[in-house]
Amino acid sequence: MTTRLDDASAARAALDARAHALTEAETARYVRARPQAHAAAEAPAGGFLNHVPLHWMLDWPVPFPMIVATAKGARLTDIDGNSLIDFCLGDTGAMFGHAPPAIVAALARSAEAGFCHMLPSGDAAAVGALLVERFGLPYWQVATTASDANRFALRVARAVTGRDTVVVFDGCYHGAVDDALVDLLDGRTVVRASLLGADRAVPPRSIAVPFNDLAALEAVLATGEIACVMAEPAMTNCGMILPAEGFLAALRTLTRRYGTLLLLDETHTISTGLGGYARVFGLEPDILVIGKPIAGGVPASIWGISADVAARLAAARQAIGGSGHSGIGTTLSGSALQLACIRACLEEVMTAENYRHMESVAAAIEAGLRAALTRHGLSWHVVRVGARMELVASPQPVCNAVESRATAMPRVEHYLHLALLNRGFLLTPFHNMILVSPATSAADGEALVAALDEVLGTLGA
Ligand SMILES: Cc1ncc(COP(=O)(O)O)c(C=O)c1O
Repeated sequence: MTTRLDDASAARAALDARAHALTEAETARYVRARPQAHAAAEAPAGGFLNHVPLHWMLDWPVPFPMIVATAKGARLTDIDGNSLIDFCLGDTGAMFGHAPPAIVAALARSAEAGFCHMLPSGDAAAVGALLVERFGLPYWQVATTASDANRFALRVARAVTGRDTVVVFDGCYHGAVDDALVDLLDGRTVVRASLLGADRAVPPRSIAVPFNDLAALEAVLATGEIACVMAEPAMTNCGMILPAEGFLAALRTLTRRYGTLLLLDETHTISTGLGGYARVFGLEPDILVIGKPIAGGVPASIWGISADVAARLAAARQAIGGSGHSGIGTTLSGSALQLACIRACLEEVMTAENYRHMESVAAAIEAGLRAALTRHGLSWHVVRVGARMELVASPQPVCNAVESRATAMPRVEHYLHLALLNRGFLLTPFHNMILVSPATSAADGEALVAALDEVLGTLGA
């Protein structure tokens, strides 16, 4: 007798096999359309390691990277003349579109006034006020990447609490931050197996707990040894995992009860709406980090702290002499160039009107994707946080990394990515995240839905 579970597993296996079989032809099509990029990939080695300026560029599910000629708004063109509607948007760096005119103008103004002098520029006061008004916390600093900002924020958390251990959620990604590059394996927190050059003599000073598991979280916080919980309010790097009803409120209550700071990393969830997830849902983090799109795609990040954390940080610094290397900051951080672009972004790009447009196009795509899934008899679902969404290959939302890993279908994801790319749509290489920018039109969204509908049809689902 076969059970419903057997049927579901057989259907998944069939889908997986079909996607794998179809991938070969799509790969050949990709190669045929890109002779120049192909030749560059085949050229003798030298210059860049493995031919690319950053090895992540080899992580796309394609045989070699396309080479971009221009990226403007929601369109990207490669040197072989292929034009794409971009729903990857630099994995959020270009969430507000490629080269928004306000940022281009800010860059031009900076070119007149100088880029970096390690002193505040004339934009500093306005940017400080805008950050307070937009995100709610009273004190801010600028860094250059979200990874940097997260590392600095952790340093602050340790300095003000006098505690060393950090809690993260299993499946998280917060950038090149060793404390967060850990996994929960058989109940133990271990260094992520893929991490290069980790000091394996030192056990991780962080503890990973499952997202949405309040009992596990409280058991760890109750030790009284946790400096901070570092979290995305909705997880976006292990598929997309939404917080269960009441989870974030309880997270705040528990962190306060045990003297632990709450660090929210909104680098991706800034897609939620004006002010990010924390502002939209009234959360009260002690520390807030935003990177990637905060300067419209120009390298910059920001971290903000509460008045209480600021006072305790000043005391901690005073206690060790008040000056010298703090381990926080880098030479190019807080530059005139960054401030000009952050200002332009906050004033002219990251606006309520743009978020309204992004939300409405994203909601229409979500509805279209749901209808396509139903039409093809796929019991998958769509998860969306404002302008960003993903297809999840399970009938119900997943609630933690273990469930997310169990539902993932890498070969199907690979095929969908490549097939959509060949039809003119670029999705994020990691779990096919779809992101909508102010430059993405309703027609772009409809075209994506139609292409996905067709591609799902090829799977014979
Ligand atoms: C939530 C989150 N935080 C931080 C980062 C790190 O950003 P960056 O690579 O720009 O430092 C990422 C990158 O994907 C991220 O997803």
